[in-house]
Amino acid sequence: MKLWGGRFSKSTHAMVDDFNSSIRFDERLYRQDIAGSIAHVTMLGEQAIIPIEDSKTIIVALGEILKEIEAGQVTFDIEAEDIHMNVEKLLIEKIGDVGKKLHTGRSRNDQVALDMRMYIKNEILEIDKMIGSLQSVLLKLCKENLDTIMPGYTHLQKAQPITFSHHLMAYFEMFKRDRSRLKDAYKRTNVLPLGSGALATTTYPLDREMVAKLLDFDSICLNSIDGVSDRDFCIELLSALSTLMMHLSRFSEEIILWCTNEFNFIELDDAYSTGSSIMPQKKNPDIPELVRGKTGRVYGSLFSLLTTMKSLPLAYNKDMQEDKEVTFDAIDTVKMCLPIFKDMLNTLKINKEKMYQGAGGGFTNATDAADYLVKKGVHFRNAHEIIGKLVLYCINTNKTLEELTLNEYRTISDVFSSDLYNEISLEACVNKRNVIGGPSQEMMIKVIEINEKYLTKQY
Ligand code: ARG
Repeated sequence: MKLWGGRFSKSTHAMVDDFNSSIRFDERLYRQDIAGSIAHVTMLGEQAIIPIEDSKTIIVALGEILKEIEAGQVTFDIEAEDIHMNVEKLLIEKIGDVGKKLHTGRSRNDQVALDMRMYIKNEILEIDKMIGSLQSVLLKLCKENLDTIMPGYTHLQKAQPITFSHHLMAYFEMFKRDRSRLKDAYKRTNVLPLGSGALATTTYPLDREMVAKLLDFDSICLNSIDGVSDRDFCIELLSALSTLMMHLSRFSEEIILWCTNEFNFIELDDAYSTGSSIMPQKKNPDIPELVRGKTGRVYGSLFSLLTTMKSLPLAYNKDMQEDKEVTFDAIDTVKMCLPIFKDMLNTLKINKEKMYQGAGGGFTNATDAADYLVKKGVHFRNAHEIIGKLVLYCINTNKTLEELTLNEYRTISDVFSSDLYNEISLEACVNKRNVIGGPSQEMMIKVIEINEKYLTKQY
């Protein structure tokens, strides 16, 4: 007999039970569901909505049920539909009629919204920690590579020399924003929906503030219809996770490129690479490829839920049960990617020589040669043109700018003198960019210090 079976004259079709049931995937909410029920029933007792002894009996029994589930002693029942009714059923089996008082003044609609919010709050904190550890590895690599010169790119064409440290710090900043987005989402998740009832609250004198305090919620939702029909907090989480995955995916793409024979800037540790079943020489970057691939899956979750929600009339509709699998899957995916990505970074070998060589080709110091002329009084636009001509000359004669003789320079402009060569060395190109945010060692050390403080504050 279903907990809601009273008004039905025959039982549901087995196929309907299976179709309707969410226990396969919402069983993971058991901890939140039980904690929510304990808070609810505590309040019912305190408010004398049910006798205080009954509330105490229920609380003890719920504690036992929690232990039994944790010990793997419970098999959930598909016919009891979801985690909420499964727990209630276990309670009634355990203590009989008193257990039937638990659901007084509550609906599964506000119950499920509560469970999801509690679950997500916890997951946000865990994911935040994981991003923090990834940032620690990044910061360590940044400190070790202050003078590891590499080419910086725009359009994937060599642009100006930078350092590996400077490049990695770009990702550090992205992850800072990811964490701040998650923190922001947390604030709006931290609102208690319980007490909304099915949609219009209840006739019992609930003390919602008490429940909020017991469950560590910042505030209570002020409209019961919104309380049960809002899934913005899931969407915000999925959106923040999608952006995070986008960052990890861009990073992955670069790692994959850098591992190629053509770039050869880095080598992944054997423990974080895979081989080919046919080609004996292969060492493949499967980890970053999978992270890049799984990004699509997290975006999929976001779009799935946005689409589910887009034309739902108020208030609760069963469509909303679809929030769970996608939200859980995105959380699981992100939590799988972050630690492995961190370890992969922590163990990669950096080919400093190859990076340096790469920075040397492609006239990455051309801007600096133009800036040299500007310092000597040439207008920038004219300087740009002069160096452009020299680059063309270099291309035709297969030389680099630093290989040209002073005479060759002076055939184009007599402003050049021998102090030019110091100004266009790769080290000079990097360290003259001594503007905050730039690649010079001095500025990188400053930024690293700021970010070191940031990391201690975030934990
Ligand atoms: N399993 C449901 C869900 O995840 C719980 C809420 C069900 N409410 C209802 N009125 N059928 O959304």
